Amino acid sequence: MAILKIARMGHPVLRRIADPVTDPTDAAIRRLAADMAETMIDAGGVGLAAPQIHESLRIIVFRVPGERRESGEDDGPSGITVLVNPEIEPVGDGMLSGWEGCLSIPGLRGLVPRHARIRYRGFDLDGNPVEREAAGFHARVVQHEVDHLDGVLYLERMDDLRRLGFTEESLRYQMAEADGTGKE
Ligand code: NI
Repeated sequence: MAILKIARMGHPVLRRIADPVTDPTDAAIRRLAADMAETMIDAGGVGLAAPQIHESLRIIVFRVPGERRESGEDDGPSGITVLVNPEIEPVGDGMLSGWEGCLSIPGLRGLVPRHARIRYRGFDLDGNPVEREAAGFHARVVQHEVDHLDGVLYLERMDDLRRLGFTEESLRYQMAEADGTGKE
């Protein structure tokens, strides 16, 4: 396993539409996913998409930390999830704003509206289909990571750039305004 270098905003790999993975069971994909998980943990993040480590492939890893778990089944599994070729559809019209950071945009946080509830599909590393409904933090982190696969950063999802700030100031002055999340 290896800790990989994280691409920062401005690097073109973050703007590409990532390529689908042909074979989710490929040993190279398993190694890549393991390195992504290790890189995410090392960086103190809650999610990471393959383009963030300079691999333009449709793979994400994420976790829902204990303090972010809310109600039960829609929080998702407690460990690290690897999702290959993920797809999202909103469930209902509800939107929720929450604070997000991004390992590719270090030092900043912003308030981002996301679908409150989604259904997502993809494949695990054994090639098994995965389908889940997600709400709360779980829904937010998956939407953030899948956006990376389409070259979209959270800043473009914001509807009020006054709600963008450095992490330290944001935690001190802005966090009380809405639910916070972690670095993705
Ligand atoms: Ni991110």
